[in-house]
Amino acid sequence: MIFDLETNEKGNLSIGGADALELVAKYKTPLYVVDEDKIRDNYRRLYNAFYSKYQDFKIFYACKANTNLAVMRILEQEGSCIDAVSIGEIYIALKAGFDPSRILFTGNNVKDDELKFAISSGATVNIDSISQLKRLSKITDPSKHKISFRINPNVGAGHHEHCITGGELSKFGIMEEEAVEVYNMAQNLGFQPTGIHTHIGSGILDPEPFMLAVEKLMDVAGRVHEDAGVEFEFIDFGGGLGIPYHPDESKLDIEVFSKEITDLFKEKLSQYDLKNPSMYLEPGRYIVGDASVLLTKVNTIKNSYRKFAGIDAGFNTLIRPAMYGSYHHIVVANQPHEKPNQKIDIAGNVCESGDLFARDRPMPEIREGDVLAILNVGAYSFSMSSQYNSRPRPAEVLLRDCKDEIIRERESFDDLLYRQNIPSRLLK
Ligand SMILES: Cc1ncc(COP(=O)(O)O)c(C=O)c1O
Repeated sequence: MIFDLETNEKGNLSIGGADALELVAKYKTPLYVVDEDKIRDNYRRLYNAFYSKYQDFKIFYACKANTNLAVMRILEQEGSCIDAVSIGEIYIALKAGFDPSRILFTGNNVKDDELKFAISSGATVNIDSISQLKRLSKITDPSKHKISFRINPNVGAGHHEHCITGGELSKFGIMEEEAVEVYNMAQNLGFQPTGIHTHIGSGILDPEPFMLAVEKLMDVAGRVHEDAGVEFEFIDFGGGLGIPYHPDESKLDIEVFSKEITDLFKEKLSQYDLKNPSMYLEPGRYIVGDASVLLTKVNTIKNSYRKFAGIDAGFNTLIRPAMYGSYHHIVVANQPHEKPNQKIDIAGNVCESGDLFARDRPMPEIREGDVLAILNVGAYSFSMSSQYNSRPRPAEVLLRDCKDEIIRERESFDDLLYRQNIPSRLLK
């Protein structure tokens, strides 16, 4: 078993030193539980692996994975920078105390108001299209801005086709063949282009496509340096580092991965005489993915044409299984190491047939009232949640040194009505 499931003396699942069942008694279900030490450990492991091989290295945490302010504060303390994909994320990062110099804004299909917000916030703008470049030049003084470009290196990878962000079908970035022209265009408009970026996809456990993207981006950077005279201050390889969700998957060997990337990076720097730019990575999932657990209660055991365990969370709470067919490992919180003795469907409470967390999942005996722990829900889980079916979103609790602190209140029915307005002619 690849997941380190800790249990306490009662045999219950322990998260950050706290008993899962006691957390449920205190905060009810469904409940997101975040383990602070895991976030810090993940950040440090990744940072140290790269920093030990190339000192001018920075992590830009991709906060789309999880924008909870407490999570952002933890990463601010660790020294992370932020990859923001919307101006809302810039806003949250500023609220979380990140200096704008530590924020890179990589929007797509960005409108002028958003560009204005990004520029005036002081974040660096990473440009995704020629349209964006031209519009930016009209709404600001280009000489005041260092910018970068997102390049689509025509390779992509990811755990699901929705998560592949490079290649011919992808809406993201600027084609590699256009790069020299685009950097020249930027300079002619008066900008200082100082960065180059790519992000080929999410959930990558095989280093090969990532390495290919690194190689291609470095070759593009080399051409842009030689043909457009650009001196790069940073080269950003994006995020996408995967984590195991299934017990049969293996972790990325981060020592090997960091060595292969930094070796290739250094080789290409010297091949193209690119001096010593900073190297950036933008991981989201790798930093927070395995740091949270979703606790949910079984309220119905149903023997229909199939056997179902019905729980009090749905795809409004965690959409990854319904949206990507993603596997999330699930254990019974009072006996997490119990061997399976049945196959059962684990179904959510949303009124949709697709609201299934698992089909034919080998599980031990499950009874009504049991608490299930759905693992590895730190990334793209709460941040993709919704109020669909008019269900208030769950609470989030942070664990450190066995101490639990609420970092997001459970929503109430009033939150379902928030900002709605009934025209007076419809009032009763
Ligand atoms: C531009 C950009 N950078 C980084 C990431 C982070 O991806 P991951 O969480 O897979 O590391 C994303 C996510 O899709 C992204 O769009």
